[in-house]
Amino acid sequence: MTISTSHLLKETADIVVRKQLDFKLDNSLPKYWFEHNPIKTRLMDAVCATFPEGEKYFIVSVRHFREKIKSRKLLNNVADFIQQEAQHGIVHTQFNDFLRQQGLPIDKLENKLKAKLERSRKTVSPEMNLAITAACEHVTAMFAKCFFEQKSTMQGVQDPRILAMLAWHSIEEFEHKAVAFDVMQTVASVPYAMRAGAMLFLTVDMLSEIFINAHSFLKADGFGPVQRAKLIGEGLVWGLSPKGVLAPMFKPWLNYFKPSFHPNQESTVDQFPIWLEVFAETGDPILAGQAFHRAAKALPAKT
Ligand SMILES: [Fe+2]
Ligand SMILES: [Fe+2]
Repeated sequence: MTISTSHLLKETADIVVRKQLDFKLDNSLPKYWFEHNPIKTRLMDAVCATFPEGEKYFIVSVRHFREKIKSRKLLNNVADFIQQEAQHGIVHTQFNDFLRQQGLPIDKLENKLKAKLERSRKTVSPEMNLAITAACEHVTAMFAKCFFEQKSTMQGVQDPRILAMLAWHSIEEFEHKAVAFDVMQTVASVPYAMRAGAMLFLTVDMLSEIFINAHSFLKADGFGPVQRAKLIGEGLVWGLSPKGVLAPMFKPWLNYFKPSFHPNQESTVDQFPIWLEVFAETGDPILAGQAFHRAAKALPAKT
């Protein structure tokens, strides 16, 4: 399937609520699903494991301001955002069950995160919680772009179910990437310093949590201290080095600090419409995810 120019969609997209998608997540999923590589898999697992509690926090943070929204369009977008994030929570809860069955400390991670987010709701203002949510939404959309823009990045994910789950989540993050930001700017009137401070806080907090949790997963897998240190070092290079998988995020991350920034100024991925087309034709998120990955760029993106 080719991408027709008329379908090229980069800046804005309709937010579509899709329910009860079946990714056939069960115990037959491979343990080290990312290139058979323990650290790459456990880093991705560490990101995914935070989604059920994280999505709840996003929903509560945005919903707090719903009564004050005057724009019909923004109200509809908020309703769709909430439903999309709720669906992400449901599917990632299934994925967390799979991780839990491998003996990973998912309960501990979820309880710790839940307590932390509850503390945040009680101790900082609703505006700051919304600013953290908006920052997280930008990071999530850019993260999705990093992993799906080039075909080679996800080439080693052989299992189509996990690939499809991540592709679907990415598509919906692209669709609703501006909702929390719009509420923050137009309804909550969050000052620039808070918006920027929230992004700085979130970036440090999120990266440290991902590596700490990946380390605890590797420990549960039976890797010794020296092996874990070596694997974490490899993970840091893979993720955060100048040629690392997250390097393309740096510029869009920096853009967030421009006072005039808006999430729709950032492009998503060119093959976005392929997922929509295949899903519309088949209703099958696994086929859509595979087609989406197949249509990704084969060459490195220009910087
Ligand atoms: Fe989500
Ligand atoms: Fe989101």
